[in-house]
Amino acid sequence: MGRIERLLAGMTLAEKIGQLNMAASFRAVTGPGARRDLEEGIRSGRVGNVLNLWGRAPVHALQRLAVEHSRLGIPLLMGLDVVHGHHTIFPVPLAEAGLFDPDIWERTARVAAAEAAADGVSLTFAPMVDVARDPRWGRMVESPGEDAWVACAFAAAKTRGFQGRELSGASSVVATAKHLCGYGAVNAGREYASVDLSERTLHEVYLPPFAAAVAAGTAAVMPAFIDIAGVPMTANASLLQGWLRERQAFDGLLISDYNAIAELCAHGVVADTAEAAALALTAGVDIDMASEVYSRGLPEALARGLISQAQLDVSVLRVLRLKERLGLFDDPYRSAQAHGSTVAARELARDAARRAIVLLTHRRAVLPLSAQLRTIALIGPLAQASKEMLGPWSAAGQPEEAVSILEGLRAALPRCRIESVAGVDIDRRDLRGIAAALECSRAADLTILCLGEPASMSGEGGSRADLSLPGDQQALAEAALDLGKPLIVLLTCGRPLTAPWLFERADAVLVTWFLGSEAGHAIADVLTGKFNPTGKLAVTWPRHVGQVPLFYGQRPTGRPAKAGERLTSSYLDLPPTPQFPFAHGLSYSSFSLHELRCEPRIVKTSEAIEVSLWLHNDSGVHGEATVFLFVHDPIASISRPLLELKGVRRIALGAAERAAVSWRVPVSSLASLGAELAPVVEPGRFEIYAGLSADADGLLGCSIEVVP
Ligand code: BGC
Repeated sequence: MGRIERLLAGMTLAEKIGQLNMAASFRAVTGPGARRDLEEGIRSGRVGNVLNLWGRAPVHALQRLAVEHSRLGIPLLMGLDVVHGHHTIFPVPLAEAGLFDPDIWERTARVAAAEAAADGVSLTFAPMVDVARDPRWGRMVESPGEDAWVACAFAAAKTRGFQGRELSGASSVVATAKHLCGYGAVNAGREYASVDLSERTLHEVYLPPFAAAVAAGTAAVMPAFIDIAGVPMTANASLLQGWLRERQAFDGLLISDYNAIAELCAHGVVADTAEAAALALTAGVDIDMASEVYSRGLPEALARGLISQAQLDVSVLRVLRLKERLGLFDDPYRSAQAHGSTVAARELARDAARRAIVLLTHRRAVLPLSAQLRTIALIGPLAQASKEMLGPWSAAGQPEEAVSILEGLRAALPRCRIESVAGVDIDRRDLRGIAAALECSRAADLTILCLGEPASMSGEGGSRADLSLPGDQQALAEAALDLGKPLIVLLTCGRPLTAPWLFERADAVLVTWFLGSEAGHAIADVLTGKFNPTGKLAVTWPRHVGQVPLFYGQRPTGRPAKAGERLTSSYLDLPPTPQFPFAHGLSYSSFSLHELRCEPRIVKTSEAIEVSLWLHNDSGVHGEATVFLFVHDPIASISRPLLELKGVRRIALGAAERAAVSWRVPVSSLASLGAELAPVVEPGRFEIYAGLSADADGLLGCSIEVVP
């Protein structure tokens, strides 16, 4: 018998249940139920895991209680939402996804893990790999965007980054792929609402990123708060046991979401605490986060015969094994050196942040900023908002260590006078400050408007029914635009914001999302041309909230949209097309694609094709282009989306240079799910497309014939 089995054999029922209990610490940031009797719970063995605590001293104090003062001395798991950095805050996931760069995705997670582990954290509730196609849903900001292929690559990179080579490494933390699954499809984008998805969409879009996280070795998974067609995910045995544990062979830990087991009662599927506990445990949920339903309900569930001892033991063993893998039994305090943000971490944060900025429009050549500029008016409520730059879920990030837009620009342009006026407040309706902003703008050579959302408007509980600029910002922007002077807009936000009038009138608009600790410097790098923008949109940008959910991977309709024809798939009052397509993002260079070729043109299902093209830099400016490879199966037994992403290449090109770009595409990767939801490559013609975004008008195409 090993250490774990011996421990299990000596545990009382209360101690076993304690290992399945994760209690919120006094630093609780997430929800109701922070417990006052935490220390007593740890000492008595009723609390085996803690969340929302960090810092060596407080973590070690609790760990000491567990290791030295509880009967069995089992160390605690310390969980925290380290979502996009710990001390050093990187761009929010939606922004980072727009880099289309698994190497950077992994490196930022690695740094976050090292900083968090040094602070006593052993498990992060990240990555969130929910595909998000509805910007009303506030948690889109935490997601890798609308595309399943991107979400898979993101899930794998983040899992590798957080967990490192060995979980026992001093700078590794357990990754938790969340929230299985379909959370992004909540009805009408409303937080925690019900979800109803077809089996096909679940398996084609929402589940693959979780399979990718499992394949990359994620040691934990979190079920979502929501129900799918009436079955709460916290009690969804068919997906948690059948799909995750059996089909994906996941043998790690399932951790409920915050208070989710108690909420099974509100979902209306159980009558009491014992039933809730039994349903969740039977579905495979090992750890109860913060609801105490396992503590209160499992003894009764056992007594009623709703669950067995053996079932309970399986979950307890999983928890103990993970603690062993982390090395906690041998080094409960983990030997990582304490460190905050290092210079290297800040440099990575700056590089990731500037790469995440997307140049949405550039109508008049106002960028990069001219060296002759003497005065800039920096207007808007986000100009000096260093705290907002961190975005939601900023863990141990310190607002005073974040660089505001004003600070970044002042540091980059020491000889330019930069005056800043907020003009309006986002939350308070009051137009009186606009006059001062206009005054400032009139006196300057150039105006930069810093508009958008505060961090609190996205993230959990951040659903919005209106996607336009909140508060009086439109009034401010229109007044500034009416002055007719050169004007650039920076949008700080956690989702696409709808403002067609702004995109039409401003000389340039950049979306800067929430860029993290180095936001101001990163923005200055792009505006001054020190860094040529390369960021792309990981989500389609709608013109109007009435278009959502809007995403590039739509299926064809029998009546495709035709301008002016009523009985086609369109709106009476709006074009069906987006404001900006998926993967849109301009550069100071201009690129074009040429001579797309697919070889061979006739290919067997067991073979591969070589797709190649030429990328030209048609400008005199060195830059980096991102080229996207899509496929479409035009005739299949189940109608296929018009475009499906299969590859991405990022290439740096000097002035007027050209480069060959190629992909080797195994025909097996063109498989789709057949009628029985099993992957199949149906012989016939496949269309292959390459583009600088998903804009159908900008694609090059060729086709191949797949033969059996
Ligand atoms: C969120 C999770 C998070 C948990 C712990 C919940 O409210 O849905 O994403 O990991 O709280 O903070």
